[in-house]
Amino acid sequence: MTTPIIELKSVGKSFRSADGSARSVLEGVDFTLSEGEIVALLGQSGSGKSSMLRIMAGLIDADQGQVLYRGLPLHGAARGISMVFQSFALFPWLTVQKNVELGLEAQGVAPEIRERRAEQAIDLIGLSGFEGALPRELSGGMRQRVGIARALVMEPEVLLMDEAFSALDVLTGERLREEILGLWESGQIPTKAMLVVSHNIEEAVMMADRVLIFRSDPGRVRAELPIALPRPRQVESTEVRTLIDEVYGLMTAGTSRPGRTTEKEAKLQLGDRLPEADIARIEGILELLVDEPYHGRADLPKLGEETELTDKELLDVSIALALLGFAHLAYGDISITPLGEHYVGASNQERQTIFGCQLLEHVPLIAYIRHGLEQDRSGDLPEDLFLKLLRFTLDADDAERALRVAIEWGRYGNLFEYNFHTGMIQMPKDEAAVAE
Ligand SMILES: Nc1ncnc2c1ncn2[C@@H]1O[C@H](COP(=O)(O)OP(=O)(O)OP(=O)(O)O)[C@@H](O)[C@H]1O
Ligand SMILES: [Mg+2]
Repeated sequence: MTTPIIELKSVGKSFRSADGSARSVLEGVDFTLSEGEIVALLGQSGSGKSSMLRIMAGLIDADQGQVLYRGLPLHGAARGISMVFQSFALFPWLTVQKNVELGLEAQGVAPEIRERRAEQAIDLIGLSGFEGALPRELSGGMRQRVGIARALVMEPEVLLMDEAFSALDVLTGERLREEILGLWESGQIPTKAMLVVSHNIEEAVMMADRVLIFRSDPGRVRAELPIALPRPRQVESTEVRTLIDEVYGLMTAGTSRPGRTTEKEAKLQLGDRLPEADIARIEGILELLVDEPYHGRADLPKLGEETELTDKELLDVSIALALLGFAHLAYGDISITPLGEHYVGASNQERQTIFGCQLLEHVPLIAYIRHGLEQDRSGDLPEDLFLKLLRFTLDADDAERALRVAIEWGRYGNLFEYNFHTGMIQMPKDEAAVAE
C-alpha cells in the first residue's frame, strides 16, 4: 500500500482577469502524491502547472475541491512542504549562508542550530567553501544550488520543483538533476516525495516514477504514464528513448488535424492560444523533414536534437504544422502530408497562397479577422478589438501572444496587413484597390 501525502480532490482555481471576469485555470484536478514517488508534470505553457504546485504548497488557495496534507485540510504554507522555483529570489545583500538560513530563522530556530543545518545543506548541494559569498559572485548554476539548499535546509518531506533546472544551461541542469536524484536515492535527504514541473520531456522521463500530462483551458490531467525503470536511468537506453517517444505522442495527441483524432479539443476555437511558431521555423522544419535522412518522417526527440530547439519550441512548431495540414503527429513522430510536400516544392508566391488558404480553414481567429475586414467598409480595424475578444478566454499575455502569432501568419498568407505604428489591421493594399 502506498501512503498518500498530498491529495487534491476535484480542485478548481480561477483567477480574475484585468476586466474583472473570472478565468478558470484549473478544473476538476484529482491527484495524489504518495510516499516514495517522484512525479513529473508536463503541459503547455499556461496550463496551470505552477498554479497547481502553489496550491499544493499552500501558497494559494483552491476555490473548489479539497487539498489534504497527511489526511487533513491544508491551510497556508505547511512546514513539511518546500518549493523550488525557476529563479530563486536570493537576497543580494545576504551571503549564501544567510540566504540558506532565512527559512529557519523565520521559524525561530536557534542561531547555532540553523547555522549547522545551513552548513549541512550547503555541503549536500556542493557549495562548501562558498558560505560567505554573495549571490552576485556566483554563476547561475551555483545560485540555483543556493535556492535548492534553501529548500533542503527545511528538511521537507515534500519537495515541489517548478522548472528548477530550466534557467540553467543544459549540462549544469543535468548535473544538478542527477545530484538531486542521488540525494534522493541514497536517503541523504528526508524527502519522501517530489513533484517536478518541467518543460523538458527527457528530464521528466529520467526522473519520474510517473509522468502526468496536463491539458490547457482549464488545466487538468489529460494523461498519465507510469515509468517502472530503476534509477539511475541511461539517457541513451532503448527503454528511455521509447518512453520519451511515448510522452511526445501523448503531448501532441489531440493536436493533429481535426478528423484524425478522437479528442474534442483537436479543432481550434476562436479564443484559443496559437502555437508560437514563426514562419521561418515552420518552413525550416518542413524543409528539413522532406530531406535526408528523414524522407518525410521524423522522430520528434531526434528532430529536437538536430535542430537544438527546446521541447516547447519543437512542440509548438509541430502543432502549427499539424494545424495547417502540413504534417501529422502520432506516437512521437511527425510525418509530412502530401500538402506539406507540395508546399516545400512550391514557389514563394504559391506558398503564401497555400498558407493563407490553410489559415482561413483551420485558424478561426485569423478567419474572423479577415471576415471582419471584408465586412468593414474602411478596410481596417484596430488590433485592440481582437485583443478584447481574446481576453474573454485568455489572460493579457496569452491574448497578446496569440494575436502576435495571428498577425504574423495572416500577413504572410496575404490575408491582411498590419501597421506597426497605429496598431491597425488592414486589408492587403492590392485587394483594397480591387474592392473600390
Ligand atoms: N495570480 C494570478 N492572477 C491572474 N492570473 C494568473 C495568476 N497566476 C497565474 N495566472 C494565469 O493562470 C494561467 C495558468 O498559469 P500557470 O502559471 O499555472 O501555468 P503554467 O502551466 O505554470 O505555465 P508555464 O509553463 O508557462 O509556467 C495562466 O494563464 C496565467 O497567466
Ligand atoms: Mg509555470
